[in-house]
Amino acid sequence: MNCKISYFKTTGKIVSGVGAIKTLPDEIRLLGGNRVFILTDEGIVGAGICDQVLQLLEGNVASVSVYGKVPPEPPLETIDECLSLAQEAGCDLIIGLGGGSAMDVAKVVSVLLTSEKPLSQLIGINLVEKAGVPKILIPTSAGTGSEVTPIVILTDQQENLKKGVVSDFLFPETAILDPELTLSLPPGATAASGIDALIHAVEAYTSVNATPMTDHLAVRAIELVVANIRSAWANGYNIEARMNMLEGSLLAGQAFANAGVTAVHAFAYPLGGEFHVPHGVSNAVMLCAVLRFNMIANLQKFAALGKLLCPDISSTDVKVLAEAGIRLLEELIIDLKLPRTLRELHVPKDAIPRMAEGVMKVTRLLANNPRRLTLADAKCIYQEVY
Ligand SMILES: [Fe+2]
Repeated sequence: MNCKISYFKTTGKIVSGVGAIKTLPDEIRLLGGNRVFILTDEGIVGAGICDQVLQLLEGNVASVSVYGKVPPEPPLETIDECLSLAQEAGCDLIIGLGGGSAMDVAKVVSVLLTSEKPLSQLIGINLVEKAGVPKILIPTSAGTGSEVTPIVILTDQQENLKKGVVSDFLFPETAILDPELTLSLPPGATAASGIDALIHAVEAYTSVNATPMTDHLAVRAIELVVANIRSAWANGYNIEARMNMLEGSLLAGQAFANAGVTAVHAFAYPLGGEFHVPHGVSNAVMLCAVLRFNMIANLQKFAALGKLLCPDISSTDVKVLAEAGIRLLEELIIDLKLPRTLRELHVPKDAIPRMAEGVMKVTRLLANNPRRLTLADAKCIYQEVY
């Protein structure tokens, strides 16, 4: 039983359902926005989703500016560029439209607009001193859960490291979840972002900071993602699967925003930072090896996860149940044609020692991990998945 004092925090308002995007002008009005700055990426612009949003805003606000080039794994330099443009536009409301990168950049630009301190002094935990300009986040993939997390992950290209800004001021005022915006997401991105959502839920569930409330959210997220990810991957236009994936990603985000993610994400960060492996892909590669390492630390919880993933299994042996759950996750990764080794990602073997050192620096996440981890363990785990 977890007897520690716990807190539960989430996004103020969540608007969700088919056609939910049509509420955007009303939500902007409710937040007092009139000069809107949209942060999005080239894929969203190319898919016509940004134009769709611009049409909705026509005649409803005084001005709209768009930055349409947020890159994946956004570097610190992108934030400086976006901040200057947002200041020039005199914006009073920020919209993050896209995957985790566009939403993360929107979150951090929002707080920088009112901050007396530069970005370099906000990197870390609870260093943001006041609320930013209001922000509305609109996910166009189901995975990061960024619309309900107080975290922004950026890439320091000089140090080849992921860096995080963590602050309650990063929660958006409003999130809008509309599955129609996710229909055109290609299968590869659907698999990578969907598996990221599943990993958020699994890691929150097995985190040392899990609470009954985060467990409840994580369990439902796991059920939704496992039941729908194959359908969404196989036919992106399956609106029901897309809605369930958005819901699963949201619940997983709420769970990990409060319980934290663990070592799978810590192992994924060096792969993203140095080798630019997409976030969901790097997590998928590391998932099962890290879970096998971790399960001994809390066999009861990993057995409960196994029972959830394999409800028909008759064994009551906790190790058998825990292993069955991990095997089911492996099958899922195979079905979705996600890579399973570092070799497939063209990561050189001699990078393992420095990547292992990188893992050990992600103390924010290792603190949530059920099993203590040494540098030697980290090297072994990378070698296992080579
Ligand atoms: Fe993630």
